[in-house]
Amino acid sequence: MQHPSPPSGPPSAPSSGPPPGPLACRAPELAVIVPTYNESENVAEIVRRVALALEGVDWELIFVDDDSPDETWRRVRALGREDRRVRVLQRVGRRGLSSACIEGMLSTSAPYLAVIDGDLQHDETRLGVMLDRLRGGDLDIVVGSRYTDGGGVGDWDARRQTMSRLAGAIGRALIRVDLKDPMSGFFMLRADLLQTCVRNLSGVGYKILLDIFASCPTPPRFAEVPYEFRLRSAGESKLDKAVLWEYLLMLLQKVLGPVIPIRFIAFSLIGGLGVLVHLAVLWLLHRAAGFDFLTGQSAATLVAMTSNFFLNNLLTYRDMRLRGRALIWGWISFTLACSVGALANVGIATYLFQADSSWVLSAVAGILVGAVWNYAVTAVYTWRKPKGG
Ligand code: GDD
Ligand code: MN
Repeated sequence: MQHPSPPSGPPSAPSSGPPPGPLACRAPELAVIVPTYNESENVAEIVRRVALALEGVDWELIFVDDDSPDETWRRVRALGREDRRVRVLQRVGRRGLSSACIEGMLSTSAPYLAVIDGDLQHDETRLGVMLDRLRGGDLDIVVGSRYTDGGGVGDWDARRQTMSRLAGAIGRALIRVDLKDPMSGFFMLRADLLQTCVRNLSGVGYKILLDIFASCPTPPRFAEVPYEFRLRSAGESKLDKAVLWEYLLMLLQKVLGPVIPIRFIAFSLIGGLGVLVHLAVLWLLHRAAGFDFLTGQSAATLVAMTSNFFLNNLLTYRDMRLRGRALIWGWISFTLACSVGALANVGIATYLFQADSSWVLSAVAGILVGAVWNYAVTAVYTWRKPKGG
């Protein structure tokens, strides 16, 4: 179905302006965003099923692929050559489900946006119902729900079910909305709702829906549409233990407010852990093994810095993790930066203490300055953004 309209005219005024050129054609009504990482086995089937489910609807399908090693992006481009409604946003040197969904949603002019997994686990036949509900005009977002009547989680084991429900309950408490399935990765919304919250989104981790609800200035009008979560037939889940950590970070950021960068929160949590590591090593060497204090303190500092480096590399900078040779250089630059940070810490604390501040206040000020320094310097020198990214 093609609607003639001027190439650059506003979609609301299709009849004004110069006559359409041969290629002019209005933006689709619905953009379906499919985040993918190693889903090359599934993309052709997704396209087939979505096309079937959305017969009679003017749609486009946008895969957001993080440069998958299995070349999912190549498969999608091949499909796009046959059908221009299918395209791929290939992100190089980037990872992350939430940010993929956000960038996909921002890459289209369609007034309605859907997000659906690329592994066929979500029920695409519900897309039509979801669109009808939105077209009604009194809703901003429709959520595919596993936990309303008629929905389900298929064959999940008891552990994953409990985890999912627990995470859902925490999420519900955070957004103070009675959404039965706040962890859902399957939903459809009005593009103008996204615009009201896009600058507040944390964009970290898996929980894009929760992020949207938590970031809207006024609570969105929502409804839930039940669906049954399907078995994965090809490829494997990317949801691993770090997902929990990312979830924790996202919750923390929503509580602390958007001004504090989420990576700084992660960096500080790991830094706190580093203090414990430091004390443990010092105790072992100095108290238990009888080394002198200076030796113990020096070794403890090095061990704590090293464990901080590896934890930050694994968790804080998970999406730009250093490997191989880069890992060694990273460790060296991290250690250097943090040594300067430690000097600044001690310098400022001593200065304040001598200027008659209380010992606690002096220490906290020193730690704060050291932490911000370490974070800022390592963000630039240790975990450099990939070229062009
Ligand atoms: N672009 C991109 N980048 N896509 C990703 C990434 C990433 O880093 N990680 C995962 N994906 C894609 C997968 O290829 C898949 O299409 C979809 O996101 C969901 O990933 P899965 O790894 O299959 O997640 P799941 O099935 O374990 O988790 C599902 O259930 C969760 C609720 O329990 C998803 O629907 C989640 O969105 C949902 O929150
Ligand atoms: Mn899945």
